[in-house]
Amino acid sequence: MSSPAVHAEGLGKRYRIGRLRGRHATLRETVSHRLSYVTRAIGSRLTRDGRPPPADDLFWALKDVSLDIPRGEVFGIIGANGAGKSTLLKILSRVTKPTTGYATIRGRVGSLLEVGTGFHPELTGRDNIYLNGAILGMKRSEIRRNFDQIVEFAEVAKFIDTPVKRYSSGMYLRLAFSVAAHLEPDLLLVDEVLAVGDAAFQRKCLGKMEQVAQQERTVLFVSHNMAALSNLCRTACRLDQGRLVDLGVAQAVIRRYLLEGRMQEEQDLRRHPGRKAGHRALLHRVRLLENGATSAVFRTNGPFELEVDCVAPTDELKSVSLGFLIRDSLGASVFASTMDQYDALAPNRMGHLRIRASIATLYLSPGAYTASLYLGNGLYDLDVIENAIGFDVLWEPTQAIPLPPGEGWGPVVVPVCWDWNEGQAPSPG
Ligand SMILES: Nc1ncnc2c1ncn2[C@@H]1O[C@H](COP(=O)(O)OP(=O)(O)OP(=O)(O)O)[C@@H](O)[C@H]1O
Ligand SMILES: [Mg+2]
Repeated sequence: MSSPAVHAEGLGKRYRIGRLRGRHATLRETVSHRLSYVTRAIGSRLTRDGRPPPADDLFWALKDVSLDIPRGEVFGIIGANGAGKSTLLKILSRVTKPTTGYATIRGRVGSLLEVGTGFHPELTGRDNIYLNGAILGMKRSEIRRNFDQIVEFAEVAKFIDTPVKRYSSGMYLRLAFSVAAHLEPDLLLVDEVLAVGDAAFQRKCLGKMEQVAQQERTVLFVSHNMAALSNLCRTACRLDQGRLVDLGVAQAVIRRYLLEGRMQEEQDLRRHPGRKAGHRALLHRVRLLENGATSAVFRTNGPFELEVDCVAPTDELKSVSLGFLIRDSLGASVFASTMDQYDALAPNRMGHLRIRASIATLYLSPGAYTASLYLGNGLYDLDVIENAIGFDVLWEPTQAIPLPPGEGWGPVVVPVCWDWNEGQAPSPG
């Protein structure tokens, strides 16, 4: 495998709380900084002894982040405000130095960190294009070759010889993005560009980033716009208070972020809307477990358990067999199992029966799935609940399979052992 575009190891950045930003802070940054400054001021006023916080009040904006991003990947970075996303990009673009760890990057880096960093306000649009190209290490002829495209994409032809300090924020942004994307960087870092600019330009940026990625270049994209992120990025990570807390297929990382704390790991089935008409409620509860702990989020090639409580006042649970069917998010069947198939009929019991199905290795691709439940006695169904419970499967890189499956690879991931030797080509005939 070729070496990754980005290799980060143990990256950490420590800041002093309350330190003011440099004069290049953007409006949005300044505002959010002011806000956090205010909340900190309130917080410090509330300290018990009433004294100001100690001078060495340091905190980690980024802590122990290790990452490998392959070449040609469009990689998303998500996380709440202050999670450390911009800090990570700033370290990768060498705007700031890490306190711990290091990052190696292959090739030229084009970055659009904040609107127009790297632009000189007194210079014209034209001069700034050449300046940025030179910073990227490009020859004048290379820049000239891309010049018209940059200007055209940015839609600033009329103002190309005007100092950029006279540009509207939209023009500024368009030119900054256009420069970053057209100067043939091997790695394009884009922070929140879509927060500004109109819908048409946002679409244009997304299209351009896709194009850049198709040329085997790598894109790192920070955004709070989950729809844009999931359309554009194949893989993503999530930062939380400076730490890397999730990594994998972008959709799964996003879904988990959005659903966190709201997912169902247990369903009361007694009045479930998915119950097939005409059945008495014998299925009472279903729980999903991972290594004995309830969960709604599982891992590709990790363990999965489904536990169902059945309750019947009479001998209706005599020799019952439970079955389940797993469907993908579009409703297509992926796999099923029943107790009869394993000759595992439950004993004659009245009252309460708890049945557990354990899967040692869940060969499911990352995505959203449901489990439908079927309780029968070998002759007919006693109780049926369609899509009784939903769960998510996420990707987690393992030594055996370091990268997630691609788009359109189907619903299962089966571990494969790859082997080769340098033999001779088979001779014809
Ligand atoms: N120069 C600095 N000095 C002190 N603290 C800083 C500095 N830069 C960032 N921070 C703090 O570090 C933390 C991480 O900031 P960062 O800008 O990386 O977050 P983010 O994930 O990009 O957030 P957002 O989504 O709001 O852009 C925040 O608490 C922020 O206030
Ligand atoms: Mg940020």
